[in-house]
Amino acid sequence: MDRKEFLSQVGLGVATLLVPACIGGLSSCSKIGTSTQTPTNVDFTIDTSTGALSANGGYLIQSGVIVARTKIGTFIAVSAACTHEGTNVYYSSGSSGFICSRHGARYNETGVVTQGPASQSLTKYKTTLTGKNLRVYS
Ligand code: FES
Repeated sequence: MDRKEFLSQVGLGVATLLVPACIGGLSSCSKIGTSTQTPTNVDFTIDTSTGALSANGGYLIQSGVIVARTKIGTFIAVSAACTHEGTNVYYSSGSSGFICSRHGARYNETGVVTQGPASQSLTKYKTTLTGKNLRVYS
């Protein structure tokens, strides 16, 4: 297979993947990889002794929920998808809140919007720490 043939086949493959997502219009194309759905019936447990949650300021995203360990060591959990257009937010311990890198929306540690363009809060979930195991639930 020469370069031209390879690019032709790869290009067709990518187009095949993207076209169905874009059929709804150009605005749908710009939202590929995002979701504005809020997880419901959340109930999972994370081992906090290793990984991102083992240190203050760390965070991870699991099942559409962002779980963070604040700078004072408490655990918080909110829906990960920005309520503006669905890009996952990240946790900033320095700002004591969640930030969306796409258009700059900010939320406090309880998920309340503190800066637009988002206008709706993130959904807050309950957390219970038992030993090293953190339960996150609705
Ligand atoms: S998608 Fe988050 S601010 Fe626009």
